[in-house]
Amino acid sequence: MNRQENPFRLPPPRLPLLRCPGLAAPQIKREKGKIDIVFANAGFAKFASLGKITEEHYDSLFNANVKGLLFTVQKALPLMPDGASIILNASIVSKKGTPEWSVYSATKAAVRSFARTWTSDLKSRRIRVNAVSPGYTDTAPWRSIEGADQVMQTISSGIPLGRFGTPDEIAKAALFLASDDSSYVTGTELFVDGGVAQV
Ligand SMILES: NC(=O)c1ccc[n+]([C@@H]2O[C@H](COP(=O)([O-])OP(=O)(O)OC[C@H]3O[C@@H](n4cnc5c(N)ncnc54)[C@H](OP(=O)(O)O)[C@@H]3O)[C@@H](O)[C@H]2O)c1
Repeated sequence: MNRQENPFRLPPPRLPLLRCPGLAAPQIKREKGKIDIVFANAGFAKFASLGKITEEHYDSLFNANVKGLLFTVQKALPLMPDGASIILNASIVSKKGTPEWSVYSATKAAVRSFARTWTSDLKSRRIRVNAVSPGYTDTAPWRSIEGADQVMQTISSGIPLGRFGTPDEIAKAALFLASDDSSYVTGTELFVDGGVAQV
């Protein structure tokens, strides 16, 4: 099945993937002059068990989830004023050991780590860097899998709040980290996961 038939199965070779920051930064500079908030959200998941991991699997995940995120932030940085806020979309997976999710999980561990080190890198500019780590969230990729309702129901039974999160609930957490309400919060990881990675 190709992307046109199923747009939610993200085929990775959309690289080089710096289309967004590469194109947007000059336009933002021209039209707005600055970037107060970066929410680095782009990413995708696919799975392979150890022994069946190909270089393409590894490269596509690390290129999209790690390299893309790093250069998105780096390209935005010159336009960010002192005191700005960066939010990185990580995941609970870096805390878990889900079979077949090793490479995807490692990309999100890298993202979580960036939030720590960039907090130090950007200290002198008082730019706050935080990670938001969603748990199972009801988005298009989940809906695109075969038997989605059944799969999601089974997973939900293992989540303390008994359901998937909504994109809106993740957005509210990102908004908190973007706003002055979190003015003394940096370098942290905010889990929005219905408790699934906490118990
Ligand atoms: N859904 C979950 O359960 C869950 C849980 C934890 C973390 N997350 C994370 O949340 C983020 C959003 O995922 P989602 O579930 O909302 O999936 P989604 O609806 O498929 O959104 C993924 C977004 O990333 C972009 N993207 C993916 N691969 C890209 C590439 N190679 N180059 C440029 N852009 C790319 C997509 O762009 P297009 O619109 O152009 O395709 C889309 O905007 C991801 O980082 C994911 O890892 C999701």
